[in-house]
Amino acid sequence: MKVSIIGTGYVGLVSATCFAELGVDVTCVDTDSQHINRLVYGSIPIYEPGLEAMVTRNVDDKRLRFDINLEAGFRDQDYVFCALDTQLDNEGATDIHQVEDMARMFGQTIDDYAVFVIKSTVPVGTAHRARKIIADAIKERGLDIEFDVASNPDFLTEGNAIKDFMKPDRIVLGVESSHGREAMHKLYRTILLHSNRQIITTDTRTAEMIKYAATSMLATRVSFMNEIANLCELVGADANVVRHGVGTDSRIGPKYIYPGCGYGGTLFPQDIKDLIKIAGDYNYDMEVLRAVDSVNTRQKRILFDKLARHYGNDLSGKTVAVWGLSFKPETDDMSASPAIDTLDLLTAAGCDIRVYDPVAMNTAKRRWSNIFCANSMYDAVEGADAMLLVTEWRQFYLPAWDRIRKAMRTPVVIDGRNIYDRAEVESEGFTYYCIGR
Ligand SMILES: NC(=O)c1ccc[n+]([C@@H]2O[C@H](COP(=O)([O-])OP(=O)(O)OC[C@H]3O[C@@H](n4cnc5c(N)ncnc54)[C@H](O)[C@@H]3O)[C@@H](O)[C@H]2O)c1
Repeated sequence: MKVSIIGTGYVGLVSATCFAELGVDVTCVDTDSQHINRLVYGSIPIYEPGLEAMVTRNVDDKRLRFDINLEAGFRDQDYVFCALDTQLDNEGATDIHQVEDMARMFGQTIDDYAVFVIKSTVPVGTAHRARKIIADAIKERGLDIEFDVASNPDFLTEGNAIKDFMKPDRIVLGVESSHGREAMHKLYRTILLHSNRQIITTDTRTAEMIKYAATSMLATRVSFMNEIANLCELVGADANVVRHGVGTDSRIGPKYIYPGCGYGGTLFPQDIKDLIKIAGDYNYDMEVLRAVDSVNTRQKRILFDKLARHYGNDLSGKTVAVWGLSFKPETDDMSASPAIDTLDLLTAAGCDIRVYDPVAMNTAKRRWSNIFCANSMYDAVEGADAMLLVTEWRQFYLPAWDRIRKAMRTPVVIDGRNIYDRAEVESEGFTYYCIGR
């Protein structure tokens, strides 16, 4: 079985490596030659627990290889996965021209039956367009080759990606022929062999829609609970207990209802904007999602606002430590992280900023030249007038409070993820703020 993955970023690299781990022969193609060179020499450009060892093992066993030549990704393959990044264009629509280019190249290259699998998150109807493009390209060659297009949206979460691939809640497949359905089931059968999970097989439009609906639902839960938390502060209720009371309802469940300083990453913000735009094209207004997006934008400045309030709206010359930069733990991805909004606001307010993140420091160094990148979480709080916790990395959970209090100029802690116990932190001599309590 031969699989190629076009686009060797987060989704592409994880999927490729996991397929190789399952014994499949995998070729990864990416047009970013630097990226491919790093991979060829064994350097993994993303931080994902467990991935590096798995890549090395499969490269050594010759099941996984990397190439910059696109043709290598289309020739003599049973499945060609398209895992390119899909950006929004100037009008806020997802730009799928690269996916269309890949479909065309697929049609211009294949010699035998193969499946073009779209893993990128793409607007509803993209698989249909790809099918037409491929059929036209084959026809132009004067040939008649059977092929299928499958929509196979990805649900991996950064930091947990290998487990998400190997033990998925479900695999969603949109495919329009029985041959295509069989081919895709054959590929994924092993993953489902030892679990009760299932493949949800449907048409391509429905599969594309499932991806947007799932992401939007999660983001909606987060924004909704952030609003509840903000209201808890006003009425004197405890948002953590409210969360527990709500999450233990079996109709609701405990996930994605933790109050905090807003969601980030590439997925939630983009998929929501995307779905609003898709609906707009059909003259339908996604009112709930517009609110989800604007609540999140507001929530991302909540740590700064709490700090400014504490200091009577004069932060000029204050030294502020920030713990955590990535949009969530176990990733170095800072895309749309609340840390970005926080650092920009602190900079504009004239603060001296000291940051620490276990893995995202290089990204921060590239983006801001005016902030101090500390060697450790304790180094970051030296001389600080406040510590803002943005990302709940495990190493931040049980800090040595006495050491922190001695290091700080003013012992103020603003906990953006509600991981600390108020009574404990206050008993250590700190002024403590959090979200919704
Ligand atoms: N990252 C996630 O957690 C995640 C989860 C689910 C779905 N998705 C979706 O999966 C898709 C890929 O996301 P990602 O995070 O892996 O993106 P990414 O930016 O990490 O990787 C995309 C890769 O594609 C390469 N590329 C771009 N144009 C190319 C071309 N013409 N030919 C060959 N390679 C090309 C880029 O160099 C890059 O390495 C997106 O649509 C995203 O929305 C991402």
